[in-house]
Amino acid sequence: MKGKVVIITGASSGIGKALAYEFAGHGAKVVLGARNQTQLKEISEDIKQKGGEAAYLTTDVSNENDCKNLILTAKQKFGKIDVLINNAGISMRALFQDADLSVIKRLMDVNFWGTVYCTKKALPYLLESKGSVVAVSSVAGIKGLPGRTGYSASKFAIHGFMESLRIENRKTGLHVLMAYPGFTASNIRNTALVADGSQQGKSPLEEGKIMSAEDVAAHIYKAVIKRKTSMVLTGEGKLTVFLSKFFTKWLDKLVYNHMAKEPGSPFK
Ligand code: NAI
Repeated sequence: MKGKVVIITGASSGIGKALAYEFAGHGAKVVLGARNQTQLKEISEDIKQKGGEAAYLTTDVSNENDCKNLILTAKQKFGKIDVLINNAGISMRALFQDADLSVIKRLMDVNFWGTVYCTKKALPYLLESKGSVVAVSSVAGIKGLPGRTGYSASKFAIHGFMESLRIENRKTGLHVLMAYPGFTASNIRNTALVADGSQQGKSPLEEGKIMSAEDVAAHIYKAVIKRKTSMVLTGEGKLTVFLSKFFTKWLDKLVYNHMAKEPGSPFK
């Protein structure tokens, strides 16, 4: 990874922030995109102080032009692009029957379209470097989660997009990785949208008891180095993949009961 140029979206918090430190720690030049300039600046300066190389650009991935500028910043500053990690994302928590349609649209705009815009703009450079494009999906991109219709839909859409892209590029040398983390300690449940489109503002999970963002970042780093096509994290995640292949109805019941136990669950 030494000297490679790595773009990370959603790098101001959680898994994205951990990815910035992970890749920079292995000698990559990281280019960080997210909406919060103060946090990006702080992370980027901290990486530089530790002897790494970093740049950042305030980016809303749901805005095509912002994505273009992020990619161009990386190219102009460091001359090439080796890895694009589409990590920026938001979640939701509401029954579909209660959710305003703007919630589903926002989920698609950030999670799906953000991935498409950044990938589209970076692709010519990634083809040149025979680099990697990564999407941070979720176990919710393998199994639909109740209360998360828009979230699961956006992650399933990313799956179809990335899988097609991988097959299209069988002979070009482009590496396409889908990462499916399970529950990970981060800010995602605080910013999750509820039925009226406002943020949940709290997490129903004990964040300290689930996988750390740093562990997820280390796994993604290894998967990029090994040029893996997919990577599923947590025992629960791996079991979900296995069960969803063979025991759909039974798994539906299991997932329902598991998610219904969350404090303040919108269904029981
Ligand atoms: P987080 O909330 O801590 O970080 C999300 C990042 O995306 C932040 O930097 C945020 O500012 C950024 N972001 C949100 N909307 C954006 C936009 N419009 N433009 C640019 N940046 C934007 O959450 P976390 O958990 O680190 O999420 C990262 C990715 O991991 C997401 O794609 C999420 O779906 C995925 N994931 C998270 C899991 C979890 O349990 N935390 C589980 C599985 C997947």
